[in-house]
Amino acid sequence: SLSACGSDEPEAAEGEPELISAGQLTVCTDAPYKPFEYPDDSSPTGYTGFDMEIVDAIAAGMDLEVTVKDAGFDGLQSGASLAAGQCDMVASAMTITEEREQNLDFSDPYYDSKQSLLAEAGGDIASIDDLDGEKVGVQQGTTGAQYAQDNVPEGAELVSFPSDAELYAALNSGGVAAVLQDLPVNLDHTEDGAYEIVEEYDTDESYGFAVKEEGSEDLLEAINENLQELRDSGEYDTIYEKYFSD
Ligand code: ARG
Repeated sequence: SLSACGSDEPEAAEGEPELISAGQLTVCTDAPYKPFEYPDDSSPTGYTGFDMEIVDAIAAGMDLEVTVKDAGFDGLQSGASLAAGQCDMVASAMTITEEREQNLDFSDPYYDSKQSLLAEAGGDIASIDDLDGEKVGVQQGTTGAQYAQDNVPEGAELVSFPSDAELYAALNSGGVAAVLQDLPVNLDHTEDGAYEIVEEYDTDESYGFAVKEEGSEDLLEAINENLQELRDSGEYDTIYEKYFSD
């Protein structure tokens, strides 16, 4: 960026990312969204998960400390949190979409995902067509919410929750009969055997980290460079295998 001579704006040096707080990468996420981001007292940032470990490694490569801020997903995906200066970067299992790209910039893709339907194991709902007359839960502003809107039968009622915690609480209390959400996250809720993935949808989604549109070119370049280094060094694979071993 051009800096005017004698301007007293604190400008970062050429090629240096401009950050909200010097020496800090301020990262917004919507947690819990296991296995991508969830609270962890033993982590210096207070959070861990696949996204958080990749971010920690990227920041280490940039010689930055990470500060994590928990924020609602809808404001993250709309670009509002970035535009309001709440964070330098969004790391929130966020799918790269053309619509979102109009309000923010994405890094190179770092994870491939798809959608899925979670319902009672061995229950009446075996496919999306069985949702006729049922309530199906989604998280507000997500690609899963969009997929549900486009694909559930007319007689299904979509119930939208601001957070994932509220979404799965509604499933557990019988408030919704099924959840349409990213596969790895729904899978995380099958562990006790009460619920199962009844259908998967190949939506060809890739997650990207997001930065604000204006003035984030250097930051985006540094994120992409460091992501590539993690892939080259094998560190990406080590983190990947820790969370997605099967
Ligand atoms: N991948 C989906 C999307 O981009 C869901 C992401 C939700 N992330 C979260 N941390 N709650 O819409």
